Amino acid sequence: MNDLSSTPALPAEAQLPDDGQPTVINRLDYTPPAWLVPQIALDFALSLDATRVLSVLSVERNPANPAPTLRLNGDGIAARSVNVDGQPHNDWRMDGADLLIDLPGEAHTVTIETVVNPTANTQLSGLYASGGMLCTQCEAEGFRRITFFPDRPDVLSVYTVKMAGDKQKFPILLSNGNPVASGEGEDGTHWAEWHDPWPKPSYLFALVAGDLVASRDSFTTRSGRKVDLAIYVRAGDEARTDHAMRSLIASMEWDEEVYGREYDLDLFNIVAVSDFNAGAMENKGLNVFNTRYILADPETATDGDYDAVEGVVAHEYFHNWSGNRVTCRDWFQLSLKEGFTVLRDQQFSADRGSAPVKRIEDVRILRAAQFPEDSGPLAHPIRPDSYQEISNFYTATVYNKGAEVIRMMTVLAGPERFRKGTDLYFDRHDGEAATCEDFVKAIEDGAGLDLTQFRRWYQQAGTPRVDVAVAHAGDTVTLTLKQTVPPTPGQPDKQPMVIPLRTALFDRATGKHDGEHLIVLAEAEQSFSFSGHATPPVLSINRGFSAPVAIASPVSNEDLVFLAAHDDDPFARYEAMQQLVVQHLVSAVRGELSPAQRDAGRKAIGEAFAAVLADGALDDLMRGELVILPGESYLHEQLAPVDPGKVRAEREDLKRWLGETLKAEWTTLHDRCSAVPYSLDAAARGARKLKTQALVYLAPAAPTEAARRARAQYDAATNMTDRQGALMVLAGLDVPERAVALADFHQRFAGNMLVIDKWFSLQAGSLHPDALAHVQALAGHPDFTLNNPNRVRALYMAAAANPGVFHDASGAGYRMIADLILQLDPINGNVAARFVPPLGRWKKIEPARAALMRAELERIAAQPGLSRDVREQVSKSLE
Ligand code: PHE
Ligand code: ZN
Repeated sequence: MNDLSSTPALPAEAQLPDDGQPTVINRLDYTPPAWLVPQIALDFALSLDATRVLSVLSVERNPANPAPTLRLNGDGIAARSVNVDGQPHNDWRMDGADLLIDLPGEAHTVTIETVVNPTANTQLSGLYASGGMLCTQCEAEGFRRITFFPDRPDVLSVYTVKMAGDKQKFPILLSNGNPVASGEGEDGTHWAEWHDPWPKPSYLFALVAGDLVASRDSFTTRSGRKVDLAIYVRAGDEARTDHAMRSLIASMEWDEEVYGREYDLDLFNIVAVSDFNAGAMENKGLNVFNTRYILADPETATDGDYDAVEGVVAHEYFHNWSGNRVTCRDWFQLSLKEGFTVLRDQQFSADRGSAPVKRIEDVRILRAAQFPEDSGPLAHPIRPDSYQEISNFYTATVYNKGAEVIRMMTVLAGPERFRKGTDLYFDRHDGEAATCEDFVKAIEDGAGLDLTQFRRWYQQAGTPRVDVAVAHAGDTVTLTLKQTVPPTPGQPDKQPMVIPLRTALFDRATGKHDGEHLIVLAEAEQSFSFSGHATPPVLSINRGFSAPVAIASPVSNEDLVFLAAHDDDPFARYEAMQQLVVQHLVSAVRGELSPAQRDAGRKAIGEAFAAVLADGALDDLMRGELVILPGESYLHEQLAPVDPGKVRAEREDLKRWLGETLKAEWTTLHDRCSAVPYSLDAAARGARKLKTQALVYLAPAAPTEAARRARAQYDAATNMTDRQGALMVLAGLDVPERAVALADFHQRFAGNMLVIDKWFSLQAGSLHPDALAHVQALAGHPDFTLNNPNRVRALYMAAAANPGVFHDASGAGYRMIADLILQLDPINGNVAARFVPPLGRWKKIEPARAALMRAELERIAAQPGLSRDVREQVSKSLE
């Protein structure tokens, strides 16, 4: 244990405790730390394969829970030496991967030396090397892979960080806070010292050392603090940082304006790195980003990429208050920072662009990613009750549903009162490690709401379903609403939720409603009556998606066509279009449609599409949303058990029919939009979106014509949106233009990792009948590697999300993903575990495929030495 010569070869996560059972951490077992660490001084002697870390901890007994034993978490590291109060200390012991020391007094200084190998760190957690630079990722539990520490978010320390290293290899030396000193050492080394005055948990620590160039700007806060801003990238990439910088400045302004939050240091640094497990990380004063959320220029980034950069830059910046100044007491509270920060970045993006379009996109993400989570074996509340590996809980539930839950508070309180609530929250808990309960209480007190029953949104998993019945008598309409919260693992019985539903009743004759009502459904069944309706109105409910629920209401096709054309809530218009199509496709897949019903259903959809294409009052961005068909994963949610082959076939057939029926409209649209010159304004972006949409519909209806147009769009493209859109359409067609365009794209962007990622994912996500074989071949392409998470996701996430590949009836898609998990797990368990949920959905799939999926999960489960990440996801998926 005290062996200086070797670092443990196995990551601790591959080790099971003595009884062979995985350790389960329970939310209700929380106890305060026995020791606090008000200060830490770190000293790094940097090297790519052996970095020496000296850590000096000032520890103090915690009056809240005093105990003699100081527990310092470790993971895959060994202590070279331990000193207490300046004296060598041998009376310490290991408990699994943790180092324990019994300390007699109230306060001590503990000094520990460790050595880590960044180059061998393929998990990209802790200190790792990426293309010759060194960087850290500590959330959630990566700090313990660098040095021994009470690695839990309720231990807050003031950090002083000194680092020294080769001046040539590491000309830039960064950490959190402010630079306080620097100098030259011997033998071509130099050093720098950083000090962060704000106490923070270890997960927010960061260090970066490498050969980087900075794009610089500055921002003056409203109280007059001048903040130096820098975005560090590899030489050659600096021309692609403008959009990120503009987004950062806009975020800083917006948070002052909308939430009254000001930045609190004299500098704010961002570093972009190519090898990164997630999107980005909010380390105090030193955000570290996946390059894909920083680098953007018109030639290499789509409009969607621009939005993603803006949203993620804002998200990480907003964490400075919602996450850093007020942090989480324990990891069960993750949604405290993530749900709230996602809401904040959504609100910011809505203010920057088209609010209705942003809302539609956010709901689409929720339905595609979170609804399946909520209805599957990995369902968990936004505040989970237990976990084995916290990395598995960075989910769409914690993030996106978490944001929806807080958004409902804004609906209930209104913006002014909600702001009073958040002011109180930041005031009350500044400098603290808080809980979700603290947040809810602050909103209650500040906004003047009673959220007693509303708190169930934090406790209960599963997407509530609301069944709506409408009755009309005399001049009164009565809505009877019934809610059901489905059983989820560990939660068989559910209590009624508080469900705020923005509602309007439209008069058929005038096409108008008499004002919106906020219905708050809080019981299992409840009726609401509205008078003044001489004739039965058309119901528009859950406008703006005011609650993250599934509405089941018996609306006729005729009424849906009416709402799609007349609803003054843009989201509700979109929703009516979606419902129209979902109802049709679900019945078609179930084989419930007679030929006459099929014709009638299509006719209604065709009518709604034609109206949207002709409506001069719509802007193109919104028009583009309205003509997107519901995604396959959302359709799967409506059907259990589902035959993915049938869903694909019916959805494609509807697309083909719309392409044929509206062929003239699509070609006119494609011509009109192709004439709009490139700019980043909404009109030009809308045109680009529709341009590719037109091709998407033409492709199945008139493949030769579509291929010709796609090829022309590709060749004329001045920007990645047009180029990628055209290539996507070509990739799905069996036409000669396909191979030519793919080869051109690969050659044109050789060496640009982010664009080559697109090349992989377009092929893996394509509608081409041979897409599975294409993916299998691409796995052997010289540009493919398992060591870069972006590349792995580009190929295999796109494949797992493509039912034509993943759900291939032979089971070869499932086998391919299972093989990937097994191969990737020893390299990067965190990323490998992300591929388990698609297989875990087997219970929702028709029996033949379900058996194949389950067999693959069992094959993975039989593998000894799985990471804790994969082990947890697989075992839960088999239950
Ligand atoms: N906290 C990061 C964010 O959402 C996400 C993240 C988690 C990044 C874990 C890396 C590792 O902003
Ligand atoms: Zn976040």
